[in-house]
Amino acid sequence: MSSTLVGRDLLSLSDLSASEITAILDLAAAAKAGTDLGRPLEGLTLALIFQRPSNRTRVSFEVAIHRLGGHPIALFNPEVQLGERESAADISRILDRYADGIVARLVSHRDLLTIAGAARSPVVNALTDAEHPCQVLADLLTVREACGRTSGARVTYIGDGNNVCASWIYAAAICDIDLRVVGPPGYEPRDAVLERAVRLRASSTPFTVTHDVDAALRDTDIVYTDVWTSMGQETEQQRRREDFARLQVNDALLTRAPRSARVMHCLPAHRGEEITDSVIDGAQSIVFDQAENRMWVQMALLALIYADRAHTGLPQPDGRADRAIRETVA
Ligand code: CP
Ligand code: NVA
Repeated sequence: MSSTLVGRDLLSLSDLSASEITAILDLAAAAKAGTDLGRPLEGLTLALIFQRPSNRTRVSFEVAIHRLGGHPIALFNPEVQLGERESAADISRILDRYADGIVARLVSHRDLLTIAGAARSPVVNALTDAEHPCQVLADLLTVREACGRTSGARVTYIGDGNNVCASWIYAAAICDIDLRVVGPPGYEPRDAVLERAVRLRASSTPFTVTHDVDAALRDTDIVYTDVWTSMGQETEQQRRREDFARLQVNDALLTRAPRSARVMHCLPAHRGEEITDSVIDGAQSIVFDQAENRMWVQMALLALIYADRAHTGLPQPDGRADRAIRETVA
């Protein structure tokens, strides 16, 4: 099996090369079109830690793991009490003795790095304060479906320079996407993210962080937004509502983009804040396709990580995953 993802962690979107992202998207698209990925997780158990609430991530991972023949165990913070009842490193060492991989949604990216450092088995980032790589893999599949390509696609991200935005910035740099990030002053992406993206950038495709929403929207293919107040920032909600108000994705804002532009949102949406009902439920919205794609990209990602189970010491259950990967990965 030639997948370079075998046995790997996915902590940051920037861990992936352009060809690895293409391999994940190709396999996800094949699975979505009906290709049987087999049961590469047969006999394996993955532990899912949720230190923050989730709907899409938990359910799409659980379904993906089931479909690949594996067994998910979801753990929630009232039980685990990461960093309070037990250290992140000890939780990781324990889960590593029982399970064959860890999927973790954590408050702090630092804890994710600790967990990955303490576990021998693969660790996947299911959202931290710094990044949301699985979300952006699903977003890339959705952009490819909407635009026919990712390279050269024009994507306008309107909102906070947050975790989703950071993974998008890395994706744009690696996949040659023309990304425009528009936010109010004081909410720009972190300098460290921008500097890393410059180092990752595959070509000279423009990358802009701007306050000029009209210039960004004029020829965009995608209008993307996320909540103004992320999980854990609830005490800032009122101030953020005021600071972001002019950037609500509503009917008036959408008229400044081409009629062919599609609207994306990672969800959950704070309807009436960053996006209106009329836009999210409107003809240009592809948010529910985007949400569905979480499951397909995560199936593909796990199939590639567990494609060769020599590292687990378990026998390969069948050759279907290998065949599907061979047929879709160049
Ligand atoms: N988009 C996303 O991660 O959704 P959940 O928070 O519901 O998992
Ligand atoms: N930026 C959001 C994404 C939720 C999927 C948050 O961190 O709450």
